[in-house]
Amino acid sequence: MENPQTLKQCIELGAKYLERNKVENPYVVAELLAARLYSCGRMDLYQHAADKPQKRVLDAMRRGLQRVVAGEPIQYVLGQWDFHNLTLKVDKRALIPRPETEQLVDIVLKSSHLAGCEKPLVVDVGTGTGCIILSLAKALDKGVFVGIDISQDALSLAQENAALVGLEGRVHFAHGDGCGEFDPGSVDVLVSNPPYIPSKVVDGLEPKILEHEPRLALDGGADGLYIYRSLIFDAVMVVKPGGCIYFEIGDEQGSVITVLLEEFGFTDVEIKKDYAGKDRFAIAVQSA
Ligand SMILES: C[S@@+](CC[C@H](N)C(=O)[O-])C[C@H]1O[C@@H](n2cnc3c(N)ncnc32)[C@H](O)[C@@H]1O
Repeated sequence: MENPQTLKQCIELGAKYLERNKVENPYVVAELLAARLYSCGRMDLYQHAADKPQKRVLDAMRRGLQRVVAGEPIQYVLGQWDFHNLTLKVDKRALIPRPETEQLVDIVLKSSHLAGCEKPLVVDVGTGTGCIILSLAKALDKGVFVGIDISQDALSLAQENAALVGLEGRVHFAHGDGCGEFDPGSVDVLVSNPPYIPSKVVDGLEPKILEHEPRLALDGGADGLYIYRSLIFDAVMVVKPGGCIYFEIGDEQGSVITVLLEEFGFTDVEIKKDYAGKDRFAIAVQSA
């Protein structure tokens, strides 16, 4: 990038560089980088449009642009990402939170089930950055909130995020494989966005995902259903009668997950669509 005289020019030159290198949405990406460096929102950038960027800012902008061109997801380059009402730290220790998962949080929050619980035990299996459980704890004034992950790396990031958003004392994180360690019949809400992509499909994912995001967060085994089977098996024991399960699912997994949940005695199974009109969420109730 040549030496821009103003921030506006810096964004324009950055966007052109990204465009030449076939990066999608080059202008948005250049603005996101600049906004991060100015610690402001994208919409506020233009208050600084005529400012001459300091050398430190230009150097950081150049480094950011190069990382994006090299194929790194913009979220990791920024080191933070907005999810629901929180700004979370994101890095290669855990999956980048996706917009569909914000919808999963909204589904849980709107459920009549939660309203009826005095002090619900809410468990998020496969917590990653902690995005789901932290958003739920932020929105609910009562409850016990636990995030579980098999990845120590993800847990360390989730813990950092809890501190970042001021929920350190209210959300607990624990290492675990599934949720079988909870007391029988103790869990009011089990929520999970587990890895659900079949292994062979993971092998063919675009390098931006495959080379940067943890495979452990993506790979759901040969048919993509491995974790659901073990979670449903655990849930039979640990979810309270009348307690609820909320899963994010792959868009072709609705019918098979319905069968699995019903086979294990769960009732009121419902498959909900995401904003793109694809099957994306499974909800079920533990029978009394
Ligand atoms: C698709 S990511 C979801 C992360 C986060 N909840 C989100 O929605 O962005 C799945 C997470 O499940 C974790 N995981 C994979 N297998 C697990 C298991 N058997 N028990 C607990 N966590 C597991 C991975 O480490 C990863 O963090």
